[in-house]
Amino acid sequence: MQIHTTIASLRAALAPVARVAFVPTMGNLHEGHASLMRQARGHADVVVASVFVNRTQFGPNEDFDRYPRTFAADCARLEAAGVAHLFAPDEAELYPQPQQYFVTPAAAHDTILEGATRPGHFRGVTTVVSKLFNIVQPQVALFGKKDYQQLMVLRNMAAELNMPVEIVGCEIVRAEDGLALSSRNGYLTAAERAEAPRLAATLRTLAAAVRPGQSDFSALEAAAAQTLAAHGWQPDYVAVRRRADLLAPAPGDALVVLAAARLGSTRLIDNLEIG
Ligand code: PAF
Repeated sequence: MQIHTTIASLRAALAPVARVAFVPTMGNLHEGHASLMRQARGHADVVVASVFVNRTQFGPNEDFDRYPRTFAADCARLEAAGVAHLFAPDEAELYPQPQQYFVTPAAAHDTILEGATRPGHFRGVTTVVSKLFNIVQPQVALFGKKDYQQLMVLRNMAAELNMPVEIVGCEIVRAEDGLALSSRNGYLTAAERAEAPRLAATLRTLAAAVRPGQSDFSALEAAAAQTLAAHGWQPDYVAVRRRADLLAPAPGDALVVLAAARLGSTRLIDNLEIG
């Protein structure tokens, strides 16, 4: 695997490559990321990954400073998963001056669910992913469904801005007890880790209670949030939404149930497509 810390070096290496599959990450890689890399190999001749902890998508009181930087272990994982090129710029390379031009998601997508709790988060994501797409120029880019709203926002961004890249969503990888793999799971204490699978279990219970043709989910959402709260969680939201844009569903829409909740000082998110 070639490691590139400059845009010029990466571009020179990719110039002769016909088809590139790209997996952007913030590092601290786990099996979920490795699965994305392996799936990427089925889409292109060459897989490019990036590792960059993107300050602009973190709020002022969020975990940018303590986000785990595990570069050597990440490189080993990427190499084992068949990644040919790693782009790992420092902040000065990707943001040589304070960013003044941004890609702003549609307000309807930006201000709900994750966006309601984390204002500005998606603008940071769409801006850095646009920069990375312009640098890597991939034909296909893969993202995990664990960040379901991120995937929806990026799909819409690529479509509306006519970006010549196919966005592929990949299934969530879970631990045996159901907990969705996440870089933030490493923050959990042993007791919190034992409690953490309740988030996925609560979503499964809620999904099982949804009836065909139903369009008012407020009682189910409230009951699920109460279950979490009764076990020491602080839920930000539990919501049944339509998959296409995560807005309120109409009867017949394909559905997904999403939740975000804090356990101790760790904020976890998860989701489950229904049906
Ligand atoms: O999902 C992530 O790890 C990040 O949001 C991404 C897409 C790499 C942008 O920084």
